[in-house]
Amino acid sequence: MPALVLLGAQWGDEGKGKATDLLGGSVDYVVRYQGGNNAGHTVVVGDQKYALHLLPSGILSPECTPVIGNGVVVDPAVLLSELSGLNERGVDTSKLLLSGNAHLITPYNVTLDKVGERFLGKRKIGTTGRGIGPTYADKINRVGIRVQDLYDESILTQKVEAALELKNQLLAKLYNRRAIDPAKIVDELLAYAEQIKPFVADTTLILNNAIDEGKVVLFEGGQGTLLDVDHGTYPFVTSSNPTAGGACTGAGVGPTKINRVIGILKAYTTRVGAGPFPTELFDEDGEKLRTIGHERGVTTGRDRRCGWFDAVIARYATRVNGLTDFFLTKLDVLTGWEQIPVCVAYEIDGKRVEELPYSQSDFHHAKPIYEMLPGWTEDISKAKTFSDLPKNAQAYVKALEEMSGAPISAIGVGPGRTETIEINSFLS
Ligand code: GDP
Ligand code: IMO
Ligand code: MG
Repeated sequence: MPALVLLGAQWGDEGKGKATDLLGGSVDYVVRYQGGNNAGHTVVVGDQKYALHLLPSGILSPECTPVIGNGVVVDPAVLLSELSGLNERGVDTSKLLLSGNAHLITPYNVTLDKVGERFLGKRKIGTTGRGIGPTYADKINRVGIRVQDLYDESILTQKVEAALELKNQLLAKLYNRRAIDPAKIVDELLAYAEQIKPFVADTTLILNNAIDEGKVVLFEGGQGTLLDVDHGTYPFVTSSNPTAGGACTGAGVGPTKINRVIGILKAYTTRVGAGPFPTELFDEDGEKLRTIGHERGVTTGRDRRCGWFDAVIARYATRVNGLTDFFLTKLDVLTGWEQIPVCVAYEIDGKRVEELPYSQSDFHHAKPIYEMLPGWTEDISKAKTFSDLPKNAQAYVKALEEMSGAPISAIGVGPGRTETIEINSFLS
């Protein structure tokens, strides 16, 4: 089983960090392939809690080599501070590999993300304000700065000057901000160069060789399927491709090399930021899910919007990612409800719709059609096997599996590494 993709099947925060960490001890490489420090992955190991933003969750497993692929956008200050934070806690980060082709998040793109959102006013996306969108825009516009540019001062200077030519007009004339001096940006970036240098590598070559040698490589997505710039709820999305295809472009590995695609799926639904969310709850059930599930953003500290499980979304994730398995997380959070509503289809303009509509306007009008499933009250956090679960919890999982279109191969019953029921091994 040399190559697996592990990705979010909903709007992010499904528990990808925990799932990756769980497999980290058995895989040789864990690779981030898109996104940047907009991600917030919480990993709980014993009594230690780690919040990772940019680094792959595999960094906590000493056997595993963590890799930041070409598709990731890297804020060098965040990279170094996250590394030193882990070093201070005794985590060895020396094996990290960073693609020389990854793009850098520059300070002006962080500024543009923030002022751009302010400018949008009520129409804002609710970004994390980390410079993600403007950095990917520069990449596509061919005015981006890459990690490798840090090692050629003349090229770096030319590129920063080219990028700022237009941006300074925007900042000064549209956003009423002071223009940015390119020389200051170049100096700031160069100051990171030597510290980052030991990690820089031809990651595509290394990963392809590793797969050919039968090593196990895990591609770890940030965000989630519905936040994908192509397949998500555009424009309320992030600016990269968290879906399975993104692993190929974002790491330089062909689709024929990937054997398994695992969708991380929360037993209910959450979303951060603006955009449509058919099963969103505004009542005490929503508040209860938020409180019991600790649904507060790891990156921005914002409360997550909460709602019931949406099988239409799960089926869509199976389709656009070619999912082979689901990892169902946070089942324990649903303990205590007498009945649990599950959205099985939408009503759109009086019609029942089984699949996610491609039209944005239709999706904005989608009303959930619920089926009620019986709940359970027993504590499930100590369950080790599927049969340890109460009958109604088993039936809930089976119903979700049937509606979602791929087998549920693992179930999370708590935040810790060991609080997991493994049904089918991901690595066999
Ligand atoms: P990610 O962005 O997909 O990695 O997810 P986050 O880390 O942002 O959010 C998931 C949260 O749920 C974290 O606080 C995890 O520690 C926690 N978590 C993950 N799996 C489970 C689970 O099965 N049960 C419970 N109660 N918490 C979980
Ligand atoms: P993880 O990896 C949840 C959301 C933001 C905003 C939109 C665009 O922890 O699952 P951006 O800063 O990316 O341009 O913001 O995407 N968003 C996330 N929501 N989890 C994440 O990451 C997210 N990363 C971005 O809230 O709505
Ligand atoms: Mg998160």
